[in-house]
Amino acid sequence: MKVLVVFGTRPEAVKMAPIVKALKNDQEHFISKICVTAQHRDMLDQVLRIFDIEPDYDLNIFQSGQTLTQITCRALTGLEGVIEEFKPDLILVQGDTTTVFSGALAAFYHQVKIGHVEAGLRSGNLYSPYPEEANRMLTGVLTDFHFAPTTTSKNNLLREGYDESKIFITGNTSIDALSWVIDKNYKFEDEILNNIDFENKKVILLTAHRRENIGEPMENIFNAVREIAEKNKDVEVIYPMHLNPKVREIARNIFKDMNSVHLIEPLDYLPFTNLMSKCYLVVTDSGGVQEEAPSLGKPVLVVRKETERPEGIEAGTAKLAGTKREVIYNDLDLLLNNEEEYKSMAYAVNPYGDGRAAEHIIEAIKEKMMM
Ligand code: UD1
Ligand code: UDP
Repeated sequence: MKVLVVFGTRPEAVKMAPIVKALKNDQEHFISKICVTAQHRDMLDQVLRIFDIEPDYDLNIFQSGQTLTQITCRALTGLEGVIEEFKPDLILVQGDTTTVFSGALAAFYHQVKIGHVEAGLRSGNLYSPYPEEANRMLTGVLTDFHFAPTTTSKNNLLREGYDESKIFITGNTSIDALSWVIDKNYKFEDEILNNIDFENKKVILLTAHRRENIGEPMENIFNAVREIAEKNKDVEVIYPMHLNPKVREIARNIFKDMNSVHLIEPLDYLPFTNLMSKCYLVVTDSGGVQEEAPSLGKPVLVVRKETERPEGIEAGTAKLAGTKREVIYNDLDLLLNNEEEYKSMAYAVNPYGDGRAAEHIIEAIKEKMMM
């Protein structure tokens, strides 16, 4: 069976890596090829390097300052040629980016079956996350096999009327990937990170990039973190900045002159995840980081108005802090200065699966398409 794996951004690459490996390891059943749209360039290539993945097709669509329309049009056009050449039986897409929606639409236009990895997450608000909530729903409509990470995501799909026989609870492949990379004795190559005293400082790992947060919400998030760093001398903040220039400008403005806030370049997946496992707590609007931190026992403040990932919050290791400055400041203050509160959020749980999601996905594909 011929499978085309399509992805384009950093998080899709991380979460597709376990599936790419599983398909390559089962050559008795699968001929698989990888097509990257390269919606991201540097941030995608970082992940390809770490997981030693060489794409068969690289659409190289990335342009700085790209609009959603441009990404969609370039990906759709590029994918058409790839699908016509390889003639896959199944196309796999992962998540909620514009590459995912374009991949599903291109597959549909060529009447190729679609497997959607990480299906069924819903915030209930089409504009938050924007445009990801819509991308994920639109992809769902076109999908033949929905690989839902949790019961909650499966139930969302059932509520929308999808046929239960096409939904598989698999866990999230991010947990498969994470289990390969955490090393207690990990040494950073970056000098800033190597000089951080993780024993005696409370290190906050910050990430922020969501489109709907750009502007006032992101200013609020950064100002709250700044104030915390000013008032707590034992706090250091590390922010591997997303490459979006709009995000970087806000961060540089607000954190200028702050010695205890380190604005660094995006980290490779290995140092990033090991930094997460060494830090004190995480502040993020990232989807993937929200899933990874609970399994590393790190409290997460989710700086978004809604989340399509309620599992970490229900498990008690994540808290939806919103995007108001005082609320984020107070939540951070509590976690830093109230040990009970910190302990109540700092324990490892894993609501996102058993670390064998890729295996479950491959088995489901075989069962549905080959038996
Ligand atoms: C995209 C996804 C988002 C995902 C995020 C992961 C969409 C609409 N958004 O958002 O769901 O959470 O990736 O990080 O699909 N840039 C670079 N180099 C890179 C990557 C980005 O310079 O390697 C800069 C460019 O200026 C680019 C901007 O970041 O225009 C935004 O990139 P884009 O892919 O359009 O959206 P993201 O915000 O990264
Ligand atoms: N990540 C990384 N380096 C960084 C920041 C994040 O490798 O500097 C990884 C992180 O471990 C997770 C993924 O990138 O697997 C999340 O990507 P991002 O936050 O960009 O996207 P989202 O998950 O919000 O779509």
